[in-house]
Amino acid sequence: VEDAVPLKDTVDFPVGVAIDSRETTGAAAELLTRHFDQITPENHMKPEAWYDADRVFTPHPEAIALMDFARDEGLRLYGHVLVWHGQTPAWFFEHDDGTPLTNSEADQAILAERMRTHIFAVAEYLSSGWGAFGAENPLVALDVVNEVIDDGAQYADGMRRSRWYDVLGEEFVDLAFQYADEAFNHVYAADGADRPVTLFINDYNTEQAGKQDRYAALVDRLLARGVPVDGVGHQFHVSLSTPVSALAGALDRFADVGVTQAVTELDVTTGTPVTDALLVDQGYYYRAVFDAFRERAGELFSVSVWGLTDGRSWRVDSGAPLLFDDALQAKPAFHGAAGGELPP
Ligand code: G3I
Repeated sequence: VEDAVPLKDTVDFPVGVAIDSRETTGAAAELLTRHFDQITPENHMKPEAWYDADRVFTPHPEAIALMDFARDEGLRLYGHVLVWHGQTPAWFFEHDDGTPLTNSEADQAILAERMRTHIFAVAEYLSSGWGAFGAENPLVALDVVNEVIDDGAQYADGMRRSRWYDVLGEEFVDLAFQYADEAFNHVYAADGADRPVTLFINDYNTEQAGKQDRYAALVDRLLARGVPVDGVGHQFHVSLSTPVSALAGALDRFADVGVTQAVTELDVTTGTPVTDALLVDQGYYYRAVFDAFRERAGELFSVSVWGLTDGRSWRVDSGAPLLFDDALQAKPAFHGAAGGELPP
């Protein structure tokens, strides 16, 4: 893709990609730095990644490698994720004897303190443990909570019944943002400056009506309560049958809320078997969706795709979701996203 215009030069917002350290060397790194100006750690800043088998907070070598890579290459790093029900050690939600925490006041205090300790440890590490916070520190944002909205409409509050919710109720979301705000200000603002880390809520299927309503309602409640949410994230794991207007509509739905937005995990499956015709359709899809993003550039903190090459995608079995193939060649999807030529 030597001769292709860098994707990042075709848009007025930062464009990111989820990776692990496999993409930080060789031809993959060259491709990445040519086309993207931001990275997200795909797995290695998730809660479980920060702890060893003895429950001791231990920065993962992959997390360190990605911070170093971002600094060395002048990339921004979008952190993912402080508080989630997935990829979180079971002991977070247990007493030392292994019995589950309940929603008693005593157990709520235990879980809230664990959350606080976790968030402060991550913040402390990313700001000073890894290296001084300053111009060289690539961290610009964090998903503070991920996937807290329920997939169905069965609950009045629309909240996913996760272990976090079962013990703490909806307040776990407030606490996560308050702790993150406190931690990053506390750690970074020694000189009185505001934290330079934008705090996001993040979820999937936000392009679908019901989930979007529940998401918007929660964001409204959080902001009404003064919870320090800075940004709304849309994962946008979609397929060729998802109308592009639904993605645009999701961004428009939150445009007046008063916080920034990010597309955090974009991928577009073709279905299988993957054919040349479908790959061209996908090119037109990526073109339309990136055009919708360009029209909304002022509202976008960043747009990230969830992986560099198809073979590395968690959704590869649903059909070639990303911009580049396994030989690091640009697909029609890339040319579409970058506004280039596509076959008719
Ligand atoms: O690292 C182990 C490896 O040692 C082991 O041999 C192998 C065997 O299965 O598993 C490896 O861990 C896998 C890990 O990815 C790293 O590749 C896990 O099994 C696998 O479950 C994990 O999947 C990740 C998934 O989150 C887990 O929930 C995907 O890579 C990652 O793309 C995906 O990302 C999520 C976002 O965090 C949130 N939004 C949805 C998105 C897609 O599910």
